[in-house]
This record gives sequence, C-alpha cells and structure tokens, in this order.
Amino acid sequence: MEASITGSQIDSKTNEQELINMSRRTVSQLAHVELTTPRLQESRDFFVDLLGMTEVAQTDEGIFLRAWGDFLHYSLVLTEGEQAEARRIGWRADSAEDLERIAEALTADGQGGEWRDPNPGRGRAFEFKSPGGHSHEIFWDLQPFTAPDGQQSTYPNRRQKFAPRGVAVRQIDHVTVGTDDVLRDVHWFRDNLDFRFMEYTLLDDSSELPFFAMVSSTEQAHNLGIARNASGVSGATHHVAFWLDQEVDVLRAADILLEAGVELEYGPGRHGMGENTYLYVREPSGFRIEIFSGGYRNYMPDWEPVRWTPEQGSNDYYRNRVAPASMMEMFPGGRTSADQDGDAVNPFEASAMR
Ligand SMILES: [Fe+2]
Repeated sequence: MEASITGSQIDSKTNEQELINMSRRTVSQLAHVELTTPRLQESRDFFVDLLGMTEVAQTDEGIFLRAWGDFLHYSLVLTEGEQAEARRIGWRADSAEDLERIAEALTADGQGGEWRDPNPGRGRAFEFKSPGGHSHEIFWDLQPFTAPDGQQSTYPNRRQKFAPRGVAVRQIDHVTVGTDDVLRDVHWFRDNLDFRFMEYTLLDDSSELPFFAMVSSTEQAHNLGIARNASGVSGATHHVAFWLDQEVDVLRAADILLEAGVELEYGPGRHGMGENTYLYVREPSGFRIEIFSGGYRNYMPDWEPVRWTPEQGSNDYYRNRVAPASMMEMFPGGRTSADQDGDAVNPFEASAMR
C-alpha cells in the first residue's frame, strides 16, 4: 500500500528550511463549518438537543447554530444535501488588511476565489479552494451576536449564558480534512495563510509521507487537521470538533450520548499529538463529530514540527488501543484505504497505529 502512495516528501535536502514556521498570523481562528446532511431536521435536533447548541437563524443558506461560548455569531451551518459532507470551512482573518491581502494574493496567484455576500453572522467573505479540493471562506467583518431574552449572561465577557443542555459544547475547536497529499496541503496553509506546522505522524519508521499532520493559526496544537485520503475523492472531510472545558466533561458527554442511543465510534481517549482528550461519534447523517478537551497551548513562533510514529502514541497516548476501521471513513468518499482486492483495510491495524 505504501509503495503506491506518492506525495510531497518530508525527508529532503530542503527539509530544514521548509519546516521553519512563520511568525506572522493571518488567520485568527476557525469560525465555522458548513455541513450538508440528508437528514436536516434530525441533524439539527442532534446539535441542539444533544450537543446543546442554539439555533440562531434559518435562511436560504441553511440553519445557523452556535455553541454557548462561541465568540462569533455562529459556528455551524446545516443545509440539506444528498450526502453528509462539509461544503465550506470558515475562517476569520486577523485583520481587515489581512483579508484584503489574502484575497489579492490568491487571485494574483491564479488560485481564483470570489467574494460572497454578508450573511446573518459575518460581513462579506472571500471564498477559495485549498489544494486538497476543500472550499473555504475568510472574512473580517462580523454581525455581532446579541443573545435574546433568557439567554443573556450575567457575566459581561460572555455573548450568551452557559446553556446546560445535553453535552453543552462550549465552542468550535477544529476541523480535520482528507487529502491525497498531506504535506502539500500543510505547505500550502503555511505558505499562503501563515499556519504553523505543529506535529505529524508517519505510519511507521520506513514511511516518508505523513499520514496525519496538524497545523495551527492559534496557540492550539491544531485548528486544522490534515489526514491522508487514498479514496481519490477530492475535498473530503474527516470530522469537526467542539470543545469542552474539562477533560472529565468528555466522559460526561459519553454518558449523555450513550443514554441517548448514540454509538461511540472511538473514545473517550487521549491523543499523544496535542495531548487532547477525544470522543468521536456520528451525527444522524453519519458525519463524524469529535468532542474535545485538554491539551497544551503553544505560542512558539519558530516551532519546528514534531515527528511521531504510532508506537510513540501519536493517536493513542496510552499506546494500547487501535482505532476502529470505521475511523478511516471520510465524507464524502467512504473508507480511505483499500487493499489490492479493493477491500477496506485498517491502516491503524496494519501499522499497529495506536
Ligand atoms: Fe480532531
């Protein structure tokens, strides 16, 4: 399997220079993800009733939802579609100047892009595609969120009071996408949008191509994950993650979701990369959602990417658990690896990835 995979090489003469991060910040944060779902109402109810999010608007664009602690107006948009997928990922620029600079640079570079009109939560946005085929939008201006009566917090630093409903996720955390060439995409986000390249894992010591990499525009270990997708489907997404304040909250989330009849796909557990506590479940259309907490904060402007192998605990900090094969599924596209007969294989198993 490994021999048939081609992509950007991490072990090259220019390696050291290529891996030096930039200290400039262009993207301030992950703002939102737009999901399509064949089961719009069920998906909406999952995010509202079980994850504890709040519906803030319904327009032709879809159903806009926010977590109680989101600083921006919304963090999730649901629209009805034939298959579960993330159709667009939204980022907030670090300044109005950064937004203009990025739009001009991507346009001048021939990478295209176009301006989108304001919506209920943000001003105009510049839409573009990254090399893995993913659609993104970046914006600066906000439409401020004002909580309606009954949802206003007594604390002046909160946009909305704590809503103790279901899992009660606090805010969006990160999104992980799938691509045919992980390192190419890592370099693209680093070189075009000034993300830092934080950590990556190889399937084993003989591999030169990252299986998974984390890039960040913030102090987080990642707000964008990039995973190898061998399905041939462009623009696929692996999961969207929402944050909880405490690691024990993830255990409570598992309890709440199990009692509601939601199967736990993987976790609760802890990743070595980023040192975060995780729990993966599927929302009603089958799209994967991660409940996430813990981890380190990293402010190093000259950070050098950390290399992992699974045996070191990149995926499973405790080094004793193999992820299920279902974790290879991306949206759209299904399983991301196949053996010579076309049957799905689990590279976690094959490589003892833990
Ligand atoms: Fe994740």
